[in-house]
Formats: sequence, structure tokens, C-alpha cells
Amino acid sequence: MKKITIAIDGFSSTGKSTLAKQLAKHLGYVYVDTGAMYRAIALFAMQNGYISNEFFDKETLIASLSSIKLQFKFNTDLGFAEMYLNDTNVENEIRTIEVSSFVSKVAEISEVRAKLVEQQKEMGKDKGIVMDGRDIGTVVFPDSELKIFMTASATTRAQRRFDELTEKGGDVSFEEVLHNVEERDYIDTHRDNSPLVRADDAIEIDNSYLSREEQFDVVLGLVNETTEAN
Ligand code: DC
Repeated sequence: MKKITIAIDGFSSTGKSTLAKQLAKHLGYVYVDTGAMYRAIALFAMQNGYISNEFFDKETLIASLSSIKLQFKFNTDLGFAEMYLNDTNVENEIRTIEVSSFVSKVAEISEVRAKLVEQQKEMGKDKGIVMDGRDIGTVVFPDSELKIFMTASATTRAQRRFDELTEKGGDVSFEEVLHNVEERDYIDTHRDNSPLVRADDAIEIDNSYLSREEQFDVVLGLVNETTEAN
């Protein structure tokens, strides 16, 4: 069976990664969570004191980019790949609210984007990949055979993220999470560099009222149609 490239873009907490993981598993494709890569760079900036609530030393972060090694390593127990920053597993650290609150600022930097986009293109060169992010259908793989753009209301998304964080024992309020979701939406859609926009040829899926199973069935149908047509 011919392999295609599947690009999944959309707002934060729309369940892009859940869908992408399900698809990759079902199809035997590689799954790449590009948000994890931006998050790892934000974590690196935090760990080195380049970013805090008070300041952001962009220039030093840019100068340090060549010393940052990002890798995905497949965890057979979990069934997906985890993010490694300079040989350390940071899969949990990159999901905290602190990283979430700094990551958009890091993702605005063109040098950061250039480094990550280059690595992402390399990972997808053999097709058979599901990649999720904000600019996959527009910048990373503009020629991908199937582009999905996911949306859901900010409240629905904040509720999902809040449930996820509190389940892991995080101490956050719903208002804090909603504020973070809205702030990231604004920065992600208004930045000069690869802002979040729906590619003209992307298929939009609003999953505010769709279950995971319903959504998976819809998208799998699209994958099958696209694979047959190519
Ligand atoms: O999908 P996520 O919430 O883990 O993404 C984290 C941040 O990274 C998000 O605020 C936007 C940014 N990002 C991006 O700019 N481009 C991507 N391809 C993926 C994520």
C-alpha cells in the first residue's frame, strides 16, 4: 500500500496529538509531535535562565541553538515516541504550565523555526508519517497528500487541558488554563513567522462535539480515500 504524508494542524488542545497517535498506530506510520520540539527548546531556555516572567534573552538562546540536540525515541511500553533534549528524557517536563506559558515566545523566533522545520522535513522524507503542529500543511509539508485543520472552542479546549493537568496532579485553576489557551491562540495566529493559518487545501474538523472515536473514523475515511487516489 502506498504511503502518504498526513499533516495535522490546528489550535492548541484540539486533540491533534491524540488523533495523530491513533492514526499512526493504525496505519503503521511514524508520528511526530512538533509541539514537543518547540516545548523542548522552551524548556532548554528555562533551564539555562534565558527566559522567565520578567525577561527573555533571545540572543543568547539563538546563539545556543547549535548545542541543542532533539530526538524522539520510541517507547514500546507507551506505544509512542518520547522527546529527548540533549540525551535526557523530557517528555513530562515539557508538558507543564510553565513551559506552556513560554513556548509561544520561543516559537516566534525565526532561527528556532528554521532549525526545527529542517529537522521535521528530514524526518518526513520517506512519507508514511503523521506530523502535527501549526505549520505542517503550510510550511513543513506544503505538498502533503492529506491536510487536516482541527478546531474546537477555547472553553472546550481549556477544559480538556485542565482535566489532563489535574489528572497528573498539577495545581492549576481552570481560569489560568483558559487564559493560557487564549493567549497562545493569539500569539500563534498573530506572529509574523509562520502564523497558524488553515492551508487552502486543508479539511477543517471542529471536534467540540465529536467523540474521539467519531473523529478517528472520519479522518481514517479521508486517509483511505486519499491513499487510493494517489
Ligand atoms: O501543540 P503544542 O501545544 O504542544 O505546541 C506548543 C507550542 O509550540 C504552541 O504554542 C505553538 C508552537 N508550535 C508552533 O509554533 N509550530 C508547530 N509546528 C508546533 C507548535
